[in-house]
Amino acid sequence: MAESIKGLHRSCRCAELTEAMIGKEVTLMGWVARARNKGGVVFVDLRDRSGIIQLVFENADIDEQGFEKAGRLRSEFVIAVTGVVEKRQGAVNDKLATGTIEVRVNHLRVLSEAEVPPFPIEEDSKTREELRLTYRYLDLRRPDIQKNLMLKSRVMQLTRRFFTDEGFLEIETPMLGKSTPEGARDYLVPSRIHPGSFYGLPQSPQLYKQLLMCSGYDRYIQIARCFRDEDLRADRQPEFTQIDMELSFVDVDDVIDVNERFLAFLFKKTLGIEVQLPIQRMTWQEAMNRFGSDKPDLRFGMELKDISTLVQGCGFGVFTQALDNGGSVRGINAQGQGAMPRKKIDKLVEFAKGYGLKGLAYIAIASDGTIKSSFAKFMSDEEMAGLVAAMEGRPGDLLLFAADKTKLVLDVLGALRLELAKQMDLIDKDEFRFVWITEFPLLEWSEEENRYTAMHHPFTMPMEEDLALLDTEPGKVRAKAYDIVLNGNEIGGGSVRIHQNDIQERMFKELGFTREDAYEQFGFLLDAFSYGVPPHAGLAYGLDRLVMLMAKTDSIRDVIAFPKVKDASCLMTKAPQTVSQEQLKELGLAVDVREETHQSSAEGN
Ligand code: AMO
Ligand code: AMP
Repeated sequence: MAESIKGLHRSCRCAELTEAMIGKEVTLMGWVARARNKGGVVFVDLRDRSGIIQLVFENADIDEQGFEKAGRLRSEFVIAVTGVVEKRQGAVNDKLATGTIEVRVNHLRVLSEAEVPPFPIEEDSKTREELRLTYRYLDLRRPDIQKNLMLKSRVMQLTRRFFTDEGFLEIETPMLGKSTPEGARDYLVPSRIHPGSFYGLPQSPQLYKQLLMCSGYDRYIQIARCFRDEDLRADRQPEFTQIDMELSFVDVDDVIDVNERFLAFLFKKTLGIEVQLPIQRMTWQEAMNRFGSDKPDLRFGMELKDISTLVQGCGFGVFTQALDNGGSVRGINAQGQGAMPRKKIDKLVEFAKGYGLKGLAYIAIASDGTIKSSFAKFMSDEEMAGLVAAMEGRPGDLLLFAADKTKLVLDVLGALRLELAKQMDLIDKDEFRFVWITEFPLLEWSEEENRYTAMHHPFTMPMEEDLALLDTEPGKVRAKAYDIVLNGNEIGGGSVRIHQNDIQERMFKELGFTREDAYEQFGFLLDAFSYGVPPHAGLAYGLDRLVMLMAKTDSIRDVIAFPKVKDASCLMTKAPQTVSQEQLKELGLAVDVREETHQSSAEGN
């Protein structure tokens, strides 16, 4: 039976009680985490979002009816109690913040009874994620998820505080808008009033924030929901949140400066961590060459080495052919892995093949210095010794080599480096290692479309010193674009924008846009620029990714209250779903789907 709350007022949360409050009467409300009936005495762990406190019910302190009720309490009942804080009579519980105290109850109300939940509400749940997400409202009661969401709330609050103090204005931009020119597919919303027409949900507020700069708002910030219809991964959701900003009258260093101070402020206030400023900067080219990635994890070494020059003209066809085809040969040194069993090496070869490489060559150096290699028979002893020296191979090391087109070689070795670091347990999970990646290529060649596409977006400013290359070697032009990377994750990115008409026109030309195309898509922005535009630049963080790393969890779903699973569905609400014929008719839509295949999966990666 559920009782009323009438006349009761909660005095504090469970884990807000301290020894200093011993002797005080308090009123607490929360969920029964555990109830143990020992005959003459009932112990209850009461839980709310602050934590747990032990309650003690004894016949002598409470009326008979109350004591009977206490005996019937079960997990997840919602109760209110009034009682006195005491020093624990039984053993102290080191695992609880309130482990030295308890509350001796003199009044109990059962506010709500509860069914037995389909899985235990506990920290570090062993329950499979699919079940947890189906009952997300129960999963959200778990202390670790509650901690994550409280951290996220704090991050949002501190973000607002920091940027407001820095003179930023919080301005909302539309959800129902026109699609922005970014990588992914748009989510579309049909218009009832304009049958056959659609709004696009924003992939980011990019165009709007640039317009706000044209309108003189100077410094804009928004915690903005973004929507991208792309394949999900552990660090991607179809709807996610950005900390989005744009600044006028600035260049790269200004954006980096305010954001470094922001990150230092945020990490200090939330985790008590000092971020060393300035944060390291690395050009895109250097990151690719040394780590095979534009989001390098700098918590460990194992850098890539380019041995192309060294193996030129050697006897191993795999290497020389790659070079003849304009590719390169590179390697990594997995230190201390020279005794890796053949089976395990074969697994690494398979891993490399998964990325499209034809094979992976290796040299295993035994502790006595003797060498085992998949390609020794093609090489002279001197050539082998030269390779080992170039890779700084020492007895006990395993050297792995990839030969192919440079992009593939970098991709494979970059991924292999991470895989080996995991296997070798090289990563210090307590370290937070930031790096700015700068000077990204402006354009990327798209084999599919047989044209250049913008690596960031079409409004990103080329580096002034590379402008001359725009017409001659567009692939070599570097952009005033930057990413902020934390522990091998891209947590944010941005750029200086083009504000000069002539450069924008040259950019559109390189991207294969006619003037008409450009006007069709971004006419309002180009028009706005023609009425006076300040130089401007900006950046956006992926809030969910940032909090995921701060919370040291490896899934973005752990920091989003109601996330979607891999196929972009919600297991709890069953969205997306079909709608009625009437709804479709009203929107002027007809659906042509022969067979519905809705398969939900909670797989993460
Ligand atoms: P970008 O596309 O790099 O830049 O996005 C900024 C940051 O948002 C995060 N992010 C995501 N997080 C979760 N799920 C996703 N599907 C997802 N996609 C991106 C990443 C990323 O670094 N308008 C530009 C910013 C600018 O130039 O100012 C933009 O959106 O952490
Ligand atoms: P093969 O002569 O094809 O048996 O190859 C000899 C060795 O070279 C094997 O260990 C292969 O895994 C390796 N190998 C093949 N292709 C590549 C490649 N593209 N890069 C590096 N190693 C390769």
